[in-house]
Amino acid sequence: MKFFIDTARLDEIREAKSLGILDGVTTNPSLMAKAGIKGRENMLAHYQAIAREVAPGDVSAEVIATDYEGILREARELATLAPNIVVKIPIIADGLKAIRTLKDEGIRTNCTLIFSPGQALLAAKAGATYVSPFIGRLDDISHDGMSLISDIAVIFANYGFETQILAASIRHPMHIIESAKLGADVVTSPLKPLMALLHHPLTDRGLQKFLEDYRKAVEG
Ligand code: E4P
Repeated sequence: MKFFIDTARLDEIREAKSLGILDGVTTNPSLMAKAGIKGRENMLAHYQAIAREVAPGDVSAEVIATDYEGILREARELATLAPNIVVKIPIIADGLKAIRTLKDEGIRTNCTLIFSPGQALLAAKAGATYVSPFIGRLDDISHDGMSLISDIAVIFANYGFETQILAASIRHPMHIIESAKLGADVVTSPLKPLMALLHHPLTDRGLQKFLEDYRKAVEG
């Protein structure tokens, strides 16, 4: 399973990278705004900085256009920024058409805002490299986010789709564990749930005891 970090902040990307477990990055317009990136030129430069930081890992950069021609224009521009840029496109009719065209051009895509198995099936048929089911946002409205991951996994396995399942909208460490159990290819997580996987109170207590006993043995 691949670990992506869901942030546009370079400090967070570097922290996750320093752990040696980072495979890529996902961003979206909200995360870019949260990172304080303003203006189109600055955004493009920031995508390049992220892409350099995690190369050869994939970096998802999202289009803003919602019409076919506009999506294609933006996608082609984003794809020229770095070889590890994957263009993120929403699951709308023009997005689907654009995913097919971009696939034929050799441009990789991440189909985003997936909330149903049917949307994921369409994106896979169109040739998306990744689909991003949003688990947390479903849980937020009392739907079962995890069952979306398992439904998509069954459908993709039935037909041998190569499209990778990228579990997104992660809120807590159990979302990561459950996604791994269900066979998601990638989980993209904010730094906090990712770091929470590391900690266990019994590890802390056990380590403290080992160190105390060592000191007693050495120092008397
Ligand atoms: C990443 O690809 C998604 O845009 C992101 O995970 C959405 O997360 P949120 O629901 O916490 O905004």
